[in-house]
Amino acid sequence: MRPIEVGALAKRYGRTTALDGIDLHVEAGQVYGLLGRNGAGKTTLMRVLLGLVRPGSGTVRVLGHAPGDPAVFRRIGALVEGAAFYPHLSGRDNLRLLTRYAGLAESEVDKALERVGLSGRADDRYRGYSLGMKQRLGVASALLGSPELVVLDEPANGLDPAGMAALRELIRSIGDEGGTVLLSSHLLGEVEQVCDRVGVIHAGRMAFEGTLAELTAGRSLEERFFELTGEGDWAPSPERRTA
Ligand SMILES: Nc1ncnc2c1ncn2[C@@H]1O[C@H](COP(=O)(O)OP(=O)(O)OP(=O)(O)O)[C@@H](O)[C@H]1O
Ligand SMILES: [Mg+2]
Repeated sequence: MRPIEVGALAKRYGRTTALDGIDLHVEAGQVYGLLGRNGAGKTTLMRVLLGLVRPGSGTVRVLGHAPGDPAVFRRIGALVEGAAFYPHLSGRDNLRLLTRYAGLAESEVDKALERVGLSGRADDRYRGYSLGMKQRLGVASALLGSPELVVLDEPANGLDPAGMAALRELIRSIGDEGGTVLLSSHLLGEVEQVCDRVGVIHAGRMAFEGTLAELTAGRSLEERFFELTGEGDWAPSPERRTA
């Protein structure tokens, strides 16, 4: 059984087609990177996988279950578009709450804080955290309980170079220990260094799926990315067909 199986997934928000026939297969132990421009559909895809938004049509199985099935809740860790934490509580207390909610041992909290290098500031209030510290706490929350599937939406956001390097190592270590990681990123170099397999989403469709070597075929990742997703302009979101 693959940890993630998605077939012909479509999702529409009103007249906007966010996902338009996505197929995605992620194997156990893989680090899978989703690339795509702003508005391509990365976050929406992750939200569907986590049961946070309902798919319009298509098939979705996560760890062999329907998305959001309580049976697999504890086996999945996720950080999707800015985790919400209580500002008046410390980082540590925020994670404690999450372990309680998920029925995990409290000892998981310090382990996760350690892994993201936040132990030294764990007792400070969340509202006093810098952007990168907030992001680290979000990543820590996804690691609680060492879940077998970790979904990270742009985990490198706001991290300093040392933090990014540490994050890469962390993500690799999850994969090396047999865990599966699905991450999204705008940082082509990050994806290049850490992912076994990549998917390029463009306007709600998979424009490419395969290994990095297959994607680049000897050329630069940037060049290939632009080729698949359009170049240059600041053009906000790709054009969409409206129903
Ligand atoms: N809750 C929502 N209501 C309406 N439209 C939405 C909603 N969420 C996403 N969309 C639309 O769906 C499309 C895909 O958005 P999504 O957030 O999945 O893109 P993304 O690839 O994560 O982009 P980014 O790189 O900017 O994070 C966009 O056109 C977006 O405006
Ligand atoms: Mg997004």
